[in-house]
Amino acid sequence: MKTSISVIGAGYVGLVIAACLAKLGNEVTLIDIDELKVNSIRNGVSPIYEEGLDELLRKVNMQVTTDYEKTLTSKIIMLCLGTPSDEGGINLNDIAEASTTLAGILKRRQDYCVITIKSTIAPGTTEGLIIPALEKSGKKAGKDFGVCMCPEFLREGKAIHDFMNPARIIVGEHDRTSGDIFCQLYEHFKASIMRTSLKTAEMIKLASNAFLATKISYINEIGNMCKQLGIDAYDVAKGLGSDDRIGNKFLNAGVGFGGSCLPKDLRMLIAKAKEINYQPRMLEEVLRLNDEQALRMLNLLRKHVQLKGAIIGLLGLAFKSGTDDVRDSRAIGIVEALLREGATVKAYDPLATKNFSRIFPQIEYVTVEQVLNSDAILILTECEEFNELDYKGKLVIDGRRIAKAREAGIYEGICW
Ligand code: UGA
Repeated sequence: MKTSISVIGAGYVGLVIAACLAKLGNEVTLIDIDELKVNSIRNGVSPIYEEGLDELLRKVNMQVTTDYEKTLTSKIIMLCLGTPSDEGGINLNDIAEASTTLAGILKRRQDYCVITIKSTIAPGTTEGLIIPALEKSGKKAGKDFGVCMCPEFLREGKAIHDFMNPARIIVGEHDRTSGDIFCQLYEHFKASIMRTSLKTAEMIKLASNAFLATKISYINEIGNMCKQLGIDAYDVAKGLGSDDRIGNKFLNAGVGFGGSCLPKDLRMLIAKAKEINYQPRMLEEVLRLNDEQALRMLNLLRKHVQLKGAIIGLLGLAFKSGTDDVRDSRAIGIVEALLREGATVKAYDPLATKNFSRIFPQIEYVTVEQVLNSDAILILTECEEFNELDYKGKLVIDGRRIAKAREAGIYEGICW
């Protein structure tokens, strides 16, 4: 069914969802308080790099505004605000503020609408924080308005594809009517829809990302042993992953996981566990292993060069290839350590240089060829162009398994 939808928050998730829903013929309004962002999107320029997004934005017809009043007429309102982690834990300020603003709107609405949370939040947040804030309007969830929690499983860089071709759709519903109305939005998608309680949906999202993170730390741990034993972790992963109970995805050993989701969502789940007095030993270890993994690159490097005074070249600064996102990128800890130990850092990334230079203005951002002229090269993302370089005679420490880099004069793979 085509319907009128307001999407609140023009971050990765909100922007992609809004554009895709508009492409599917819905009447979409995208709302964000950041005027610069809104203007840029209106001009068909995405504020973030996402494959195919600029083209899509130029093609689709949707309203982009800073004005919450537009939600007054939407049948479905989707909350897509960020839940970043800061020193105090997970920051729910934006979600809380938006819920209060929406309560003001609900107060004036006569008709029924469904408010759906897309943001990643800990189990219990919709019921414990969002619904109480919305009900300050004097209206009642399940009677005057509906509430759903529908997590997203989009990968950065592949988000449009993932939205259009979901593997599964999880709909947490406050009550049957809320779910019935919201599910109509997905009736033409091929994927199965699983309907659950609100907090089950919240948990499915966190458990999914925590599992992916666990798979990576697991293969990295096996890989670290493989390295010492003279075994190739990629051969092991191939043998292991061909058992379909295990699966071959997310078994690429390397420098570890980063990004705005896997590390943060693990931390969110760990914090929730502690809140209920449960010690999440495995999850904590997954995170610890991941932090140590990046520093293993430096241990390998130290075997070959004295870091003080050396010029170290980095290939890849984003948390993975195909994105300009540097949040929780493994490169951050590595650069910090290199600078601390007196090395000079020259770095290249095809998309993320600008974002990385906001964190490290003091390092040199150079061309890919200039990186090759360093005393040693660290490969930190699996960018295709890194597989076309001439590494002959160089010293390379590879955190992402770039086949061509094996031609280097001295080559060390992190787990192989
Ligand atoms: C992740 C999930 O894959 C999405 O399903 C989810 O929707 C999203 O988080 C989110 O919660 O919004 P994303 O952060 O885009 O997506 O990144 P991934 O592609 O999952 O990669 C995460 C990190 O793991 C990257 O640093 C990547 O290099 C690393 N990785 C991935 C490995 O080290 N090994 C692997 O085998 C796979």
